[in-house]
Amino acid sequence: MDKMVIHGGVSLTGTVEVSGAKNAVLPILAATLLAEGEHTFHNVPRLVDIRTISRLLGRMGVECQAGEPFRVRVGTLKGHEAAYELVKTMRAAVLVLGPLVARAGRARVSLPGGCAIGSRPIDQHLKGLERLGATIRIHRGYVEASSPRLRGARISFDISTVTGTENLMMAAALARGTTVLENAACEPEVEELGEALNKMGARILGAGTPVVTIEGVEGLHGVEHTIMPDRIESGTFMVAAGLTRGDILIRRCRLAHLGAVVTKLREAGLEIAPEGDAVRVRGPERIRSVDIKTLPYPGFPTDMQAQAMVLMALADGTSVISETVFENRFMHVSELRRMGADIRIEGPNAVVKGVPRLEGAPLMASDLRASASLVLAGLAAEGTTEVSRIYHLDRGYEGMEKKLQKLGAQIERVRE
Ligand code: EPU
Repeated sequence: MDKMVIHGGVSLTGTVEVSGAKNAVLPILAATLLAEGEHTFHNVPRLVDIRTISRLLGRMGVECQAGEPFRVRVGTLKGHEAAYELVKTMRAAVLVLGPLVARAGRARVSLPGGCAIGSRPIDQHLKGLERLGATIRIHRGYVEASSPRLRGARISFDISTVTGTENLMMAAALARGTTVLENAACEPEVEELGEALNKMGARILGAGTPVVTIEGVEGLHGVEHTIMPDRIESGTFMVAAGLTRGDILIRRCRLAHLGAVVTKLREAGLEIAPEGDAVRVRGPERIRSVDIKTLPYPGFPTDMQAQAMVLMALADGTSVISETVFENRFMHVSELRRMGADIRIEGPNAVVKGVPRLEGAPLMASDLRASASLVLAGLAAEGTTEVSRIYHLDRGYEGMEKKLQKLGAQIERVRE
């Protein structure tokens, strides 16, 4: 197992390029199950999660060939099962459920259990599939879904769910008749999936808005598509600049996807300005405290909460960070406290009293974004920080230490 060793205190400067968005690629690769033929994708990041979904698709007869471009060949489906051993390492594996039922008429997908950030049920995915006519039963930890041909329906989500919206968009793409999804998730990754599906021949209107209309078609075909840049990776580098009084140019950063993040970071004192097709971010002399509440898009993303908390841990004054999306996403707090941060948890709120400095310490990563926050804390801290269990980071950040090294950070990956 690898760990990151970071000598903190270096101001980051230079240029960094953001990779393709993990949470856009995962549903798009799952969507290839719907469409026989050759698919060509550009800007697919090299991440453990992408390898995991490729392995999963491989068991269904879908051949994924990593590289630039990333090629996918889909023929007759050979399997319809997502086994526990894969789903437990990556919950997004549940994204094959909708496409499998739609194309193969059946699916057997392990129910994901709870994870480090919350209980994360998939009841909305299942209710939606039932509305489309699928028969669902839970048997020995697996969801078994079947349906000869799904039929369009009106579905209103009780709660905004990203992968739930994506699963139902994919299922409805091949259903008979029209489906309307209400209270759908509006994240840019949902919009991107809609675009990719439409290029495959689907008829989807409104993806990325609360109401998505899907007119089912008889079949889909292969597609060529370039994956959008990862907004959370962009935001993470912005915070890195903010924490180290850095001055960095972020290439392939779409500010339009980062509205709430940029607003909060500017309030905290960061200078963020478009420069050509990139974005320049400068950290302030003193960070100002700001309150933050995570919400579904276009609100402040929960995937940026841990990183923003590190910034607030070093701000002047006290801030309140409220996590409203996941019930248990404060695993990074106890580790940050070990570095000297003054953070108190009160239910869904973290009360963060800024301290003048953090001290390097040995730390343990617990989930993807928590790992990123610990690396950020290490960059800002005095002395040496070691972050163990870095495999969480490799699930969602492509070559993070290499990108940070290019910006001058003293960080290296060490085999434990
Ligand atoms: N929820 C339910 N029932 C459902 C589905 C969701 O109660 O059927 C609840 C969840 O428990 C949670 C809330 O609804 O409290 C929102 O969950 P959502 O379904 O939107 O999350 P997700 O689709 O499982 C995606 C991202 C996450 C990101 C969240 C929120 C992918 C593959 N994953 O998860 O990304 O945090 O949306 O934006 O797109 C990450 O990249 O680190 C990550 C965790």
